[in-house]
Amino acid sequence: MSHTIKNIACIGAGYVGGPTMAVIAEKCPDIKVTVVDVNEKRIAAWNDENLDNLPIYEPGLKEVVKGARGRNLFFSTDVDAAIDAAEMVFISVNTPTKTYGVGKGMAADLKYVELCARQIARVANTDKIVVEKSTLPVRTAQSIRTILKAEGKAVNFQVLSNPEFLAEGTAVADLHQPDRVLIGGDQDAAGQRAVNALADIYAGWVSRDRIITTNVWSSELSKLTANAFLAQRVSSINALSALCEKSGADVEEIARAIGRDSRIGSKFMKASVGFGGSCFQKDILNLVYIARSYGLTEVGDYWEQVIVMNDYQKRRFAANIVNQLFNTVSGKKIAMLGWAFKKDTNDTRESAAIYVADYLLNEQAELFIYDPKVKPEQVYADLDYLNTRSESENRRLVTVVNQPGDAMKEAHAVAVMTEWDVFKTYDWQKVYDDMKKPAFVFDGRNILDGSGLKEIGFMYQGIGR
Ligand code: UDX
Ligand code: ADP
Repeated sequence: MSHTIKNIACIGAGYVGGPTMAVIAEKCPDIKVTVVDVNEKRIAAWNDENLDNLPIYEPGLKEVVKGARGRNLFFSTDVDAAIDAAEMVFISVNTPTKTYGVGKGMAADLKYVELCARQIARVANTDKIVVEKSTLPVRTAQSIRTILKAEGKAVNFQVLSNPEFLAEGTAVADLHQPDRVLIGGDQDAAGQRAVNALADIYAGWVSRDRIITTNVWSSELSKLTANAFLAQRVSSINALSALCEKSGADVEEIARAIGRDSRIGSKFMKASVGFGGSCFQKDILNLVYIARSYGLTEVGDYWEQVIVMNDYQKRRFAANIVNQLFNTVSGKKIAMLGWAFKKDTNDTRESAAIYVADYLLNEQAELFIYDPKVKPEQVYADLDYLNTRSESENRRLVTVVNQPGDAMKEAHAVAVMTEWDVFKTYDWQKVYDDMKKPAFVFDGRNILDGSGLKEIGFMYQGIGR
C-alpha cells in the first residue's frame, strides 16, 4: 500500500513513542519515521549497536527495532530537522501530574506538550498534521491549535487525537493486534482528510473495522475513561480481597465465579498489592480534576474512590507484614521480589513496591530488593523521590541484589511485589531452609499457588486468602 504520508516525526522517545514508531516503521517500509527526544542518553541508547541496551525493555521490541532501524526508522536529537521534514508529527511526550500551582497533585502538567506545539509552530514551513499521542485532558487539542495558529504562518495545521492503548510488557503484541485504534479529528473536510491519512497508515496491518473515528473531544476523553474503567476493576477486586481475608472466602474463586458472567468478563480481575504504572493514577486524578472543574463534585468523588482504594491496598499489605512479624520489623531483613509495576517491563513508575518499601522503611526494616530488569540506581531514585528520608539513609537500609538468593538468605520474610514468571520457578524448599524461622511469604500477586509453601513450613499469605 502506498501512503499519502511519507515522513513522520515523533517527539518523545519513551515507553509510548519508541515502541509505537518502531511498529509503524516495521509495517510501513515506505514511510520514513524519525523519533526525536531532548534526552541525549535516551537517543544514544535507542541507537546502541547492542540491542540489549535499548532504553526500554519490552518482549519482542528488540526484533522490531533490529528490522527497521537504519532502514526507515531513525532516532535523533535534532528535533527541528525532524519536524521540518515531516508531514505528520506525533507528540508523545510525558504528561505527569502537576506538582505545583493550580491543580497540584491532580491536573496533568502540559508544559512539555505546550513546548512541543510552540516548537512545531516555529519550525513549520509546510502543512502538518499534528497527532496527540500522549494522554491528554479533554480539550487539549484546542490549546495546541491556538498555539500553532498564533505564529500566523501561511501553513495549515490539523490536530488529531490518537491515544495509545498499549499496555507495558505487552506493547509490541498490543501494537501488532490492537483491539481498536482510535482517531479523533475535526468534522470538516480538511479534518476528515487528516483522519484518513492516519487511518491509512494503521490499515496496513489493522482491519478497517477496528479503526474507530470520532470527534477530537470524544477521542481525548475515551483514553482517560478506558484507563479509569480498567483501574476501577482492579480496585473493585482489591476491595473484595480485604473482605475475603476476613470472611474465609477466596478472592480467586470469586474472580473465577463472577468472571464467567459474560457481562462482567474474566479480565483485569487479579487481586494484587495495588495497581501501578504511569497511566492509571494520573489519568483518574485528571478525570477527577476535570469533573470538579466543571462543578461535577459527585462525579469527581466517584472516580477518586478508585485511587483511595488503591492507596488503602498498598498500606494494608505493608501493615499486614508488620503485624504478622509480631508487630515489629525493626532491624529485620525483608526480601522484596520485584520492583517493576508489573512483569515484563523495567518501568517502575507508581509501582506498589515503592510505597510498600517506604512503609517498611519507616518501621526500620532492612530491605533486600531483587528485580530481573530494574537497575539499582532506579530503585534508589524512586525512594529518594519520595523525600521521606535522606539519600544516605535509603542506601543504608536498602540493598539491591543481582541474585534473588542473596535477597532471601537469612531473611525473616519474603514479599512478592511483581508477578515475574521466574519467581514461580524457585526451589522454595531451599529458600525456606536458608531463611530465619518462622519464615513468611507475603505474595502480593497470588503467583505462588501450588508451590506447597505451607507444607514446606512457610507461613504463607496471598492477597484475599
Ligand atoms: C494501562 C492500560 O492497560 C493501557 O491500555 C494504557 O494505554 C496505559 O495504561 P499499563 O499501565 O501499561 O497499561 O498496564 P496494565 O496492564 O493496565 O496494568 C496496570 C496495573 O494494574 C499494573 O500494576 C498491574 O499489575 C495492575 N493489575 C492489572 C492488577 O493488579 N490486577 C489486574 O487484574 C490487572
Ligand atoms: P511515556 O510513557 O508517555 O512514553 P516517557 O517519560 O517514557 O513517557 O517519554 C517521554 C519522552 O518525551 C521523554 O524521553 C522526554 O525526554 C521526551 N520529551 C519531553 N519533552 C520533550 C520536548 N519538548 N522535546 C523532545 N522530547 C521531549
